[in-house]
Amino acid sequence: MSFNTFGHLFRVTTFGESHGPALGCVIDGCPPRIPLTAADIQRDLDRRRPGQSRYTTQRQEPDTVRILSGVFADAAGGQEMTTGTPIALLIDNVDQRSKDYSAIRDKYRPGHAGYTYDVKYGLHDYRGGGRASARETAARVAAGAVARKVVPGLVVRAALVQIGPHRIDRANWDWAEVGRNPFFCPDARAAAQFAGYLDGVRKAGSSIGAVIEVVAENVPAGLGAPVYGKLDADIAAAFMGINAVKGVEIGDGFAVAQLSGEDNADEMRMGNDGRPRFLSNHAGGILGGISTGQPVVARFAVKPTSSILSARRTVDRTGRETEIVTTGRHDPCVGIRAVPVGEAMLACVLADHYLRHRGQVGEAPRWPRAASQDQ
Ligand SMILES: Cc1cc2nc3c(=O)[nH]c(=O)nc-3n(C[C@H](O)[C@H](O)[C@H](O)COP(=O)(O)O)c2cc1C
Repeated sequence: MSFNTFGHLFRVTTFGESHGPALGCVIDGCPPRIPLTAADIQRDLDRRRPGQSRYTTQRQEPDTVRILSGVFADAAGGQEMTTGTPIALLIDNVDQRSKDYSAIRDKYRPGHAGYTYDVKYGLHDYRGGGRASARETAARVAAGAVARKVVPGLVVRAALVQIGPHRIDRANWDWAEVGRNPFFCPDARAAAQFAGYLDGVRKAGSSIGAVIEVVAENVPAGLGAPVYGKLDADIAAAFMGINAVKGVEIGDGFAVAQLSGEDNADEMRMGNDGRPRFLSNHAGGILGGISTGQPVVARFAVKPTSSILSARRTVDRTGRETEIVTTGRHDPCVGIRAVPVGEAMLACVLADHYLRHRGQVGEAPRWPRAASQDQ
């Protein structure tokens, strides 16, 4: 299976399957002399780890990361730093239970990747979905923790803003709340509502979809390469590449269809710091595929988990019509653990574009330009 690498200058290759001995990634192109320890990466992995609440899969994976290469403690300072060589990160799988899947080893789960992998490769890794399993996203989160350090001052945060029909009230948005409830929800009242709702979904052996919003602050203006390397296009590709993602929006996204040109205009004024100040951010911080310097705002929708307890009609590998019931351990709403994954993917895209921008343009041209240069 090819195409396990993404990024151009900050280049990440992931490897591993759900029920293999380990998974991980190799990051090539990370600049040297960036302080980096396993603890920096573990912090993000711990937020994605399964089994932390009754609302996520009960598979117990500590997801302890080891840095195998690419860092070195300079004797003088004693601080671990990137060396500029490939950074290899390894995470062991410790809680595989392949027998959970033996009853469905020849059947395709509707909504899962079994059929398409089999039709393409002639293989059906029924054990947790093999390479299609979201175990792979642990490697993305590990890479994202490194990517965050590449762009100076970059802050990337995400939050769950909708589960099923229940949306947050944006007036209650509090980033501090995201770390206080098991849903990464920024609205305390909505989180309480999510809890009752998801308990019902879980007890019914069902599942439900969700929407995640990701916001990057301190993104320098100028990142993005028109016309085939637009920042928004690369963010969309990165989010669509996350398991179960079926929709992506940048800025106001599909809601722009209802806006007039007047409403959609992110009007400009000059700030006291000599930089332009936008009076709104319908564009989500990107114009013409290039960052404006405003926060980059993007959202993605994840579908409900396909592994559910109620019987669904399907076919097996021999072409026989049958039914399937998926037992075992599954996330009733995969959107919850997708929150740190979304942060990681945005951080990786921004790190890559930061390095690409530096490589092509170097120092930013002076702005505002002198009046005589305007002709
Ligand atoms: C964090 C996360 C956890 C997931 N956990 C499960 C799971 O427990 N059971 C399941 O059937 N799918 C799970 N998925 C979704 C599948 O990996 C995904 O639906 C499958 O690979 C098919 O790919 P597609 O949905 O992108 O088409 C999860 C996805 C994410 C992002």
